[in-house]
Amino acid sequence: MSTPGRDAAREAATGAVPPGSRAGARPRWAPERFAFGCDYNPEQWDPSVWQEDVVLMCEAGVDLVAVNVFGWSDVEPEPGRFDFSRLDAVVDLLHTHGIGVNLGTGTSSPPPWLSTLHPEILPVMADGTTRWPGGRQAYCPSSPVFRERSRALVEQVAQRYGAHPGVRLWHVSNELGCHNSLCYCDVTAEAFRAWLSARYGTVDALNAAWGTSFWSQRYGAFEQVLPPRATVSSRNPSQVLDFHRFSSDELLDLYRGEAEIIRSHSDIPVTTNFMVTAHQRDMDYFAWAPDMDVVANDHYLDHRLPDPLAELAFAADTTRGIAGGRPWLLMEHSTSAVNWQPVNVAKSPGEMLRVSLAHVARGADALCFFQWRASAQGAEKFHSALLPHAGTSSRTWQEVLELSRTLDALQEVVGSTVRSDVALVFSYESWWAADGENRPSADVRYLEQVHAMYGALRAAGLAVDVVPPGAAPEVLARYRMLVVPELYLVRDTEAAAIEQYVADGGHALVTFFSGIVDEDDRVRLGGYPGAFRDMLGVVSDEFHPLLPGRTVTLDTGATASLWTEQLRVVTAKAVAHHVDGPLPGVPAITRNEHGHGTGWYVATALDLDHATELVREVAAHAGIQPMPGAGPQVEVVRRAHDGGASYLFVINHSDDVVEVPVPGHELTRGERAETVRVPAGAVRVVREDETR
Ligand code: GAL
Repeated sequence: MSTPGRDAAREAATGAVPPGSRAGARPRWAPERFAFGCDYNPEQWDPSVWQEDVVLMCEAGVDLVAVNVFGWSDVEPEPGRFDFSRLDAVVDLLHTHGIGVNLGTGTSSPPPWLSTLHPEILPVMADGTTRWPGGRQAYCPSSPVFRERSRALVEQVAQRYGAHPGVRLWHVSNELGCHNSLCYCDVTAEAFRAWLSARYGTVDALNAAWGTSFWSQRYGAFEQVLPPRATVSSRNPSQVLDFHRFSSDELLDLYRGEAEIIRSHSDIPVTTNFMVTAHQRDMDYFAWAPDMDVVANDHYLDHRLPDPLAELAFAADTTRGIAGGRPWLLMEHSTSAVNWQPVNVAKSPGEMLRVSLAHVARGADALCFFQWRASAQGAEKFHSALLPHAGTSSRTWQEVLELSRTLDALQEVVGSTVRSDVALVFSYESWWAADGENRPSADVRYLEQVHAMYGALRAAGLAVDVVPPGAAPEVLARYRMLVVPELYLVRDTEAAAIEQYVADGGHALVTFFSGIVDEDDRVRLGGYPGAFRDMLGVVSDEFHPLLPGRTVTLDTGATASLWTEQLRVVTAKAVAHHVDGPLPGVPAITRNEHGHGTGWYVATALDLDHATELVREVAAHAGIQPMPGAGPQVEVVRRAHDGGASYLFVINHSDDVVEVPVPGHELTRGERAETVRVPAGAVRVVREDETR
């Protein structure tokens, strides 16, 4: 069972506890150079290839290599028999070539002998079906057998390499929860009950939190509670929500178990690779971050989304937010295509460099790739790599060398942080709760609404920080503008902090289906948007979601879709009304003077152009200047050292030359300029004459 320390972790993540105070004197990742690296799976290759690998790694400037990520069956071929001869050779080889080792604990995928001996470790889906070995990560996160065996492996690895001079970083497991985040087996059921008992104390408190008088669901004892397995009807939404909380905690507990063992043998920083990305919502990384010595993320462009580059920018800004604003590591991305989307789009010439530097601009101090050498066998053989099947004669290889040289030219940027006047509130709990069963419209999806507002901010050229809903008042006070998209679930203290922010002079823009329920998913009575009614000076009696394909028009000329509501202004002023649709004449956008600040409310889903116009208007009202030259195709982001130099990244994804008037020294070409000229598809980074 996970430790019931989630709320403490939440406090630390939200700034209520000074960062690092829980961590004590844990090691920090604070290198003087960008790390440039990759995953390396030498066990897939004959040792005769390894020598060539390290020579080419040196040629490419690779200095951080993750090994033993999927090494379990190699280093423990039989129960309790460890054979480190291959890993020893690889770690030593890398070290003698001056390449730092990012050492995997090897626990991410149990070997076949373990699931043969203990089939009870296999994960079970909500419908009761088992997921079998033959892929990866086939284990239940709560399994005591898995925990015991994996920790025995970590003990061996940490003991053996804890003081090895080549090890620079510890890499716990791999993407914890990537495939097995929610397990519904009997072992999980027991762990879930223990977690609930620690959370609620009594079964009556659980009944109250879950509203079990509805549909005759009242529990007489914790023993009667199950994970929210597939049912014949809809499931209890509060039970589902708590199961998400539990499952995220359970995976964090796996990390903690491994990290504790490592820390007893080693002073090297410990981390695991997060998946802050559109297709993973099961881990609340704000709650995980205080346990990381440095935050690391994996990110792949997702061509199933309408705007993959905007999603990348959002994911990178969110990762930085999770890291508390500090630099973070991009632990995995791809040189070109992945292998797991329906159509795996290859990167065009120059795209890898742009995409990589988009992460750096948003705070990454390491650029690592999956993986070093493209596999010849296995499920990922058509995934790109630094060294493709075609070898060093490939365009990819040449671009890898170019990226490495470019990164070298940017070394002085390392350790600097991103500056933003706007914060966007992002909540994993709202994602879990708002996208549950039986909501007003299944077409309203939390992340899409967050992306919609982020996309508008990005198109308006506004740099954005991402903060959790419980961000402390002193954290919120750093921003002139706060964007709160679909914050469906909000605790009283979180809502109070946002209201205080506005009362103290901040400018908040809240979008529909916000403030609706408390932490138990209980509706806040008295009219919508519940927790934010007073701050926004409005009240809604009823939601009128729109059928797919339907749009409505506002008197500003905007087109909107998905959502309308029977909104009345109380103290607010209407800024826009519906012209047609189910609610003609009803306010759609409002603005309310509250204390010294302003609360704006958007009660519909605006088209991108009008959403962009609106965020520009709110930003202007808040006294914020957009970044010069920025727009949907041109990213302009500033990183700066505290009290030192500032750097403007201009990333031109467009087909046109872009000119930005920023006097300074351009680092990639080593030239001085009054105006930086960025050719189509290129990136320039200017050390500004005037420090910001
Ligand atoms: C990640 C994973 C890697 C590799 C990669 C492929 O999810 O950590 O091991 O599978 O995806 O894109």
